[in-house]
Amino acid sequence: MAKSNKFLPLNMATDTQDDAEQRTMRLQGKVAIVTGAGAGIGRGIAERFAREGAAIVIAEVDPTSGESTAQAIRTAGGEALFVATDVSSEAQVKAMVDKTRERYGRIDVLCNNAAVLLFREEAPAHELTNETWDRTMAVNLRGYWLTSKYVIPAMLPQHSGSVIHGASPTGLFGFTRLTAYSTSKGGVIGLMRAMAADYAPEHIRVNAIIPGTIDTPMNAVELADPVARARYAEIAPARRLGTPEDLAGIAVFLASEDSDYCVGGIFTVDGGLTAV
Ligand SMILES: NC(=O)c1ccc[n+]([C@@H]2O[C@H](COP(=O)([O-])OP(=O)(O)OC[C@H]3O[C@@H](n4cnc5c(N)ncnc54)[C@H](O)[C@@H]3O)[C@@H](O)[C@H]2O)c1
Repeated sequence: MAKSNKFLPLNMATDTQDDAEQRTMRLQGKVAIVTGAGAGIGRGIAERFAREGAAIVIAEVDPTSGESTAQAIRTAGGEALFVATDVSSEAQVKAMVDKTRERYGRIDVLCNNAAVLLFREEAPAHELTNETWDRTMAVNLRGYWLTSKYVIPAMLPQHSGSVIHGASPTGLFGFTRLTAYSTSKGGVIGLMRAMAADYAPEHIRVNAIIPGTIDTPMNAVELADPVARARYAEIAPARRLGTPEDLAGIAVFLASEDSDYCVGGIFTVDGGLTAV
């Protein structure tokens, strides 16, 4: 039966529901790598990217959670490939990028999200062990650089791409007993700015997201204490903890052409934590 098109704009007059959903997908046809997408913020971003039409490569060190995210995306009708990857390993990063290019032929978005926060081992500088420093830097900073090193050559000939680096308020301000993590996150902002300057002329945008306190496995131990949990929620003007979904919208924006003129930006999503 013909649909009534009396009050609809021309291009919507013959739309099925599927057509309407297709039209609103903001990342249709794109290929996105999300590191650390097995849990927390990375998983939230990967699932949202998939709903927006992107094919997702989950570069995750934990095979169980990595495959679980991929499965969830496929069950929801999306496209996802899990590639077991420790982002601190050059060989594994290279293999993951090669696999992505073989399978999808292009890379449009790199979302660098995988990081470690070694809470129990963190300490003031003079008490920090070399092992904690080295492991934190290897994943949180070297990992971001290694993925960039192998993804950018895929983006250059396309003359397009978006790199999103996950930073942290600890990279901007001093927090006690978080020496290695804070330094790595400050380094991420430096890496982001250097890359933004180098690749903007190639039409590859590089930006950073700064989440506030987000309810994820990274903070599970801290937030298990109800008093600490309430305190973390209270210090943000929004008076609540963030969720991985809170980060997904800005990530979609930065991955899409809507952010075409966003270069070297720092986008806080923190309920006002760093504004006051
Ligand atoms: N949760 C917060 O409050 C918060 C605040 C500011 C910034 N961030 C940043 O946001 C990002 C995501 O944090 P989250 O809270 O979702 O973390 P999370 O610990 O909950 O999840 C991180 C994921 O990364 C994976 N991972 C860890 N090491 C890896 C490696 N070497 N290679 C590949 N994958 C690895 C983990 O297995 C896990 O699935 C991180 O960069 C973090 O520093 C988080």
